[in-house]
Amino acid sequence: MAKMKGLVLSGGKGTRLRPITHTSAKQLVPVANKPILFYVMENLADAGIREVGVVVGDTAQEIEAACGDGSAWGLNLTYIRQDAPLGLAHAVKIAEDFIAGDPFVMYLGDNLLPSGITPLVQEFAERKPEAMILLTAVPDPQRFGVAVLTDDGRVQTLEEKPEHPRSDLALVGVYLFTAQIFEAVNAIKPSARGELEITDAIQWLIDQGREVLPHLVKGWWKDTGKLEDMLDANRIVLEGAEAANLGDVDEESNLIGTVVIEEGAVVKRSLIRGPAIIGKGTLVEDAYIGPYTSIYFGCHIRGSEIEHSIVLENSSILDIEGKVADSLIGKDVVVTRTSVRPHAYKLSLGDHSRVEVI
Ligand code: TTP
Repeated sequence: MAKMKGLVLSGGKGTRLRPITHTSAKQLVPVANKPILFYVMENLADAGIREVGVVVGDTAQEIEAACGDGSAWGLNLTYIRQDAPLGLAHAVKIAEDFIAGDPFVMYLGDNLLPSGITPLVQEFAERKPEAMILLTAVPDPQRFGVAVLTDDGRVQTLEEKPEHPRSDLALVGVYLFTAQIFEAVNAIKPSARGELEITDAIQWLIDQGREVLPHLVKGWWKDTGKLEDMLDANRIVLEGAEAANLGDVDEESNLIGTVVIEEGAVVKRSLIRGPAIIGKGTLVEDAYIGPYTSIYFGCHIRGSEIEHSIVLENSSILDIEGKVADSLIGKDVVVTRTSVRPHAYKLSLGDHSRVEVI
């Protein structure tokens, strides 16, 4: 079998994760202080893949700045520009020259699959189907692409976000294809929502009698398209973290449970109850950081309490009276207390921001 390539989808609109995605790529939101896309690159490298195409859209610059030429993972990255997010099958279509007839793994850049992809790449190489899809049983299949299997274990039908799902097997955002998928993506028409759907392309292969095999995912998987899923992913990854202290924690502070303090972080007169991670050069003083919290680099948390949240780089939370929880806070954000009258919530929020006050 020809050497497998990788195709990572890092374009898209990210409407479900606004306002972060108005200005930034959702694939670069850190989970336990590491961008989701970096977990994807690690998985590909671990499976022995070297040549990886990265489909990028409006956030191309940011993605390229973060991933570079891929040498950090021993990968060779080629960026493929998608002019508009016209669907997953459209992203495949524009990658045809890059794939050049080889089999490939398509990996959605906002998906997290900690068990990795090595076993399925091996199974694909051994069984040689036309396509292989990853499935996992979920309680709310109507949110996903849903597969129905035949009695002998092949994929019979795929439906995108069905109102009345015929199984609980949701499509995970990792697919293995041979170059036959290009026939399919060139044959299908856009769906009602105006996108070229990968489910339609795979269904086309099935209808042509080509072999499409399922692979059931063991362990957990997350599509981090929404805030709640992002916080869930952060929680689960932090649960598996190992405590480390590479920063400077004073005697008046207390670290309980699994706490990771990255290089150059300073903690003064604070209580941190893990699992939690404090990023490089971040200053935490007179604060409480509760479980499942990731504070990225260059932040300042002072006189405040925060838990079950993700805070992106260079943001400050200063002297807030109530507790901050279940929150995703962007880059360079300042949340502070005011002493100037009127004593009111003074908000400067981007489009689609969401604030819940007590
Ligand atoms: P989705 O999460 O399905 O789509 P989206 O990013 O547009 O988000 P939303 O539904 O909130 O508006 O996309 C899955 C992954 O594929 C994600 O990493 C973005 C990427 N993608 C592309 O690269 N090109 C595309 O045309 C589409 C639709 C998605």
